[in-house]
Amino acid sequence: MVLIEASILAADFARLGDQAQEAEAAGVDGIQIDVMDGRFVPNITFGPGIVRALRPLVSVTLDVDLMIVEPERHLAPFADAGADRLTVHREALTHPHRVLQSIRELGVQAGIALGPGTSLSAVEELLSIVDLVQVMTVDPGWGGQAFLHSQLDKIRRLRKLLDERGLGIPIAVDGGINLTTAPLVVSGGATVLVSGSSIYNDTAPVTRNLAALRGSVNRQ
Ligand code: DX5
Repeated sequence: MVLIEASILAADFARLGDQAQEAEAAGVDGIQIDVMDGRFVPNITFGPGIVRALRPLVSVTLDVDLMIVEPERHLAPFADAGADRLTVHREALTHPHRVLQSIRELGVQAGIALGPGTSLSAVEELLSIVDLVQVMTVDPGWGGQAFLHSQLDKIRRLRKLLDERGLGIPIAVDGGINLTTAPLVVSGGATVLVSGSSIYNDTAPVTRNLAALRGSVNRQ
């Protein structure tokens, strides 16, 4: 079962609530909210207020992707605001074990993301305490970037590692996911596709874009 999450970074910021509901009505399995602080990544985006505003509008998974330094200082406000999952980036963590446990103690799912330059070995010791591993298939910070094919091998190795350990944890991929790259990552073992510009764009409405994306992986 491949799940698809819409990244609202590509949505019309003037109509975020409508765009989130449009994606839910179209059948997405989740909404990803990319939180950026201008330090961990150059861009600046959303705070807990956006999560709190969207929570009553949709019932799908609200996946908060914390691309921020010292995420441990901001976990509770995002959990209180209604996040179902908090994903932190391995490169931002000095004490990853403690931070991931803190997320779970808040009663929400814990995700760990690793950037294109980060080796799998950096998360190997953490796999038993996370609910999801997110492989960044672009350098985090912007939507609409080209997919990094260099990450396909990492996805395959991660899937093998999880299977060897009997860990049925979903592998999410984030960045440059479209009709061409979605089948590649799914055949590599990814089970959660995060997509922004392939879902929210001027080419076609959300419903048709999502159907095409889902079709591209269901044909496999
Ligand atoms: C990038 C973000 C992604 C991005 C995906 O740093 O984490 O979620 O919004 O957008 P696309 O699908 O356009 O690459």
